[in-house]
Amino acid sequence: MARLRPRPGILEIEPYVGGKAEVAGIVRAVKLSANESPIGPSPRAIAALQAAAPEAHRYPDGAAERLRRAIGARFDLDPDRIVCGAGSDELIQLLMRAYAGPGDEVLYSAHGFLMYKLSALAVGATPFAAPERALTADVDALLARLSSRTRMVFLANPNNPTGSYLAADELARLHAGLPEDVLLVIDAAYAEYVRRNDYTAGMDLVDRADNVVMTRTFSKLFGLAALRLGWLYAKPPVVDVLHRIRGPFNVGTPAQVAGVAALDDLEHQERARTHNDRWLPWLAQQLSGLGLAVHPSVANFVLVSFGNAGGRSAAAASAWLEQRGIIARAMAAYGLPDCLRLSVGLEDENRAAVAALKEFMA
Ligand SMILES: Cc1ncc(COP(=O)(O)O)c(C=O)c1O
Repeated sequence: MARLRPRPGILEIEPYVGGKAEVAGIVRAVKLSANESPIGPSPRAIAALQAAAPEAHRYPDGAAERLRRAIGARFDLDPDRIVCGAGSDELIQLLMRAYAGPGDEVLYSAHGFLMYKLSALAVGATPFAAPERALTADVDALLARLSSRTRMVFLANPNNPTGSYLAADELARLHAGLPEDVLLVIDAAYAEYVRRNDYTAGMDLVDRADNVVMTRTFSKLFGLAALRLGWLYAKPPVVDVLHRIRGPFNVGTPAQVAGVAALDDLEHQERARTHNDRWLPWLAQQLSGLGLAVHPSVANFVLVSFGNAGGRSAAAASAWLEQRGIIARAMAAYGLPDCLRLSVGLEDENRAAVAALKEFMA
């Protein structure tokens, strides 16, 4: 008897597991597992959400006109070259559906964001991971793995979960090494946090080349992860393709109005950035002081290696933290089983995490 079967590749997918949010028996856990903004959404975004509630029976603006104009004004971009999505996750999936399929290869770096592999498999494409150097994407290794079947290269810059980044010249070198029919997707989800002169989120590359896309999100610095809102910047032919395949109402009104309000609140954005500037280095220093290897990060989280010395494994540390109501992100799914990732939290959350790990290491 014929059996119902999904397309090849689908059953190879281990469903993405988001950062845990709860610990049994703990009323309010300290959630440092999903790189969210610890200071929460802008009050203006909250007010916009509340104001939109009575209109919940109306379909959203399918073109996200006001939102695209607001993004364009804020980042000095042509709104017609912006596409909005239900989180940048949706945009990654749309790009994959549009440009890769069975027989095609999709390339990314070994500890790159997990969604690249999962969404490549979902469209029947073959995912390929290139090795990294010191937990940083390696341009030569990526270029060495190009084949005639490679259709797309994904680079999270900065990368989650390593926190490392490629400088503008390296990014340009990666692009220069790609054939014109290979699409480079620069996932700049954490761009707003980066404080480095040699960093570019990638808009300049999009302007210079036809085969580059930059994706961004409102889930991190803007503190709107629950609303699912992302956007991308691309050349008109790519934009045209995405409009053909996206859902006609893929971004809801709450996300659109909150996004516009959040963009408008520069003070809140600055507060989020200043908070990160203070606590990211603090976390890194404190954890290094405990004898842990902390990988340099330019985003809003740190990757910590436990290295299993004296039986102090990352898994044991994770359990120890959880018993104290603190949730870190386990990294086995990223091929980093001896690491934990900790997002920058509020001051008391950061202090609690460091105090708990200090006890753990003692
Ligand atoms: C590198 C990277 N890209 C994309 C995303 C997805 O973000 P969202 O779908 O919330 O916009 C994340 C989320 O953690 C991420 O770390």
